[in-house]
Amino acid sequence: MRRSAAVVSLAVVTTAATAASAQTLQPKAGSPIPTLTPAQLALFEAGKALYSTAMTPAQGMGPIFNKAGCMSCHANPLGGWGPISVTHFGITENGMFSLVPGESQSLLQAFASSEACKERIPAAANFAAIRITNSSLAFGLVEAIPDAAIAAIEDPIDADGDGISGRVHWVRTLEDPAGPLRAGRFGWKAQVATVLSFSGDATRNEMGITNRLEPLENAPNNDQAKLAQCDTVPDLEDVPDQQGYAFIDRVTHFQRYIAAPPQTPRAGMAGETVFATVGCAKCHVPQWTTANDPALEDSLRGKVIRPYSDFLLHDMGLLGDGVAQDGAREPEMRTPVLWNLRTRDPMLHDGTAAGGTFASRVTAAIAAHGPFGEGAASAEAFAQLPPAQRAQLVAFLDSLGRLEFDADGDGAVRAADFVAFRAAYGQATNPDLPTAVFDIDRNGVVNAADFQSLLVAYEDPQGDCNRNGTNDLADILLGGAPDADGNGVPDSCIPCIADLNRDGKVDGGDLGPMLGTWGMADVPADLNHDGDVNGIDLGVLLGKWGPCP
Ligand code: HEC
Ligand code: HEC
Repeated sequence: MRRSAAVVSLAVVTTAATAASAQTLQPKAGSPIPTLTPAQLALFEAGKALYSTAMTPAQGMGPIFNKAGCMSCHANPLGGWGPISVTHFGITENGMFSLVPGESQSLLQAFASSEACKERIPAAANFAAIRITNSSLAFGLVEAIPDAAIAAIEDPIDADGDGISGRVHWVRTLEDPAGPLRAGRFGWKAQVATVLSFSGDATRNEMGITNRLEPLENAPNNDQAKLAQCDTVPDLEDVPDQQGYAFIDRVTHFQRYIAAPPQTPRAGMAGETVFATVGCAKCHVPQWTTANDPALEDSLRGKVIRPYSDFLLHDMGLLGDGVAQDGAREPEMRTPVLWNLRTRDPMLHDGTAAGGTFASRVTAAIAAHGPFGEGAASAEAFAQLPPAQRAQLVAFLDSLGRLEFDADGDGAVRAADFVAFRAAYGQATNPDLPTAVFDIDRNGVVNAADFQSLLVAYEDPQGDCNRNGTNDLADILLGGAPDADGNGVPDSCIPCIADLNRDGKVDGGDLGPMLGTWGMADVPADLNHDGDVNGIDLGVLLGKWGPCP
């Protein structure tokens, strides 16, 4: 009986998987929106290539700059955040920030084509602050949130008396400077409203490439005479290619078409309720719907996204960076998005919540919301929570950026995740259990429908090593084929995997090669392919002791 039941479900799985009836999976952070047209995908790829390229001085990079390419800072994933910071300098008096007299901006360009041209923090400056590379990812979707929707939730005078008074940072765009004010949303101070504006800004201010939106070269400490000696490439340096797109257009295409990062489980964690209860969601607003604007691409239009930000400026008290920028005051910061938080290190604008474990980082970041700012009450409420609820909140934050089926959280769905799936198969689950990452159709049980999705998500090679017409993973999961080493390939296909010295038997002679590569990756003794040779592999070896079959 058992056997025939297994055979039936095997057949179901193989046909269903090929019919691609699996639930739609969430894309990985940094990948393109899955519904792009082929033409849009081509723009994404062309833009990604330029975004990943270091520009040369001959292309206009420099003479003063911070890095030669976008990817040098926005690396995790490409287009995302990174640990590199930039420096702003100026003068602070009684908490009021101003530019050093004679300077044109507060951002330092730390590198130069020659020592003579180098920009330096002038002696008159008494203040410097760093800013870590941030990223909203999914820039096109964030850009497509209507200004009016952001404005609708601002509360500049704290009319509801909850101690939180976010306000819109109204700004001009570089591409339409005479046009209407727009709701800023990008940058630590929400100082930029559109992706194209940021591309123009970063291309000149980080890389020293003049472009149609920022046509004037930065001079070292605004010294035009010095600039004249060092700037050898005529402006504009960023000129359109054969298809009519400049570099700033290309990198904008790439950024606009990046997908929203995954969140797994998609909903229902107890920690999200705690997140709301202690007031996090007042600023880290979970959900938005993009504009239903016919001018937008279908992939960006009318979409529900969950970035966990209100895109408003808040007085963060001592956590503010002390820089006044456009309409944003010294202590004001924009609520950052929290999607993809689980990979972020360091956190906060100055990178002070860094290293340690994810739990220690977020706990440090929350504690920093404290002194004298609008975040103080929720930081205090978090600190007062019983430990079990704090853990629930941290577990929820850890779901932001987690890939479906990625049980070990390494950002990929591989054999080790299949082993965990196999252990959970057939069992009930709920959003607060680790096995929730497997319940893709969210019906409360890890079952055959979820297995079909796993086959789609699986990144290790999938085969039919015993040529029985069934995927090897299905053989193991449903057909009961042994897979002692947990590599997703039935043991019968690799009869003597633990015979490391290939002498026809598993014995003491195989212990040497195993112990000699203990802790190493990509070696034969890593029998279960979990990234290092460890006790599990030793267990497999001992379990197979004796002559090879
Ligand atoms: C030297 C490092 C560095 C380089 C190079 C760099 N950036 Fe950035 N980027 C940053 C930092 C730091 C911020 C935060 C800036 C702020 O808020 O003041 C940022 C912010 C951004 C943002 C806004 C992120 C958000 O969602 O709030 C965009 C968009 C962006 N950069 C695009 C680019 C592009 C396009 C390039 C290449 C042309 C580029 N950057 C090159 C460091 C860099
Ligand atoms: C008053 C609005 C507000 C409230 C309430 C609030 N935050 Fe924040 N949060 C911010 C702002 C603004 C920042 C950026 C501060 C900075 O780096 O200067 C931030 C930063 C963070 C960061 C770091 C993100 C990154 O990319 O570096 C985390 C994590 C975070 N908040 C989680 C929480 C949690 C959890 C709660 C509830 C306990 C909470 N926040 C409550 C506004 C708020």
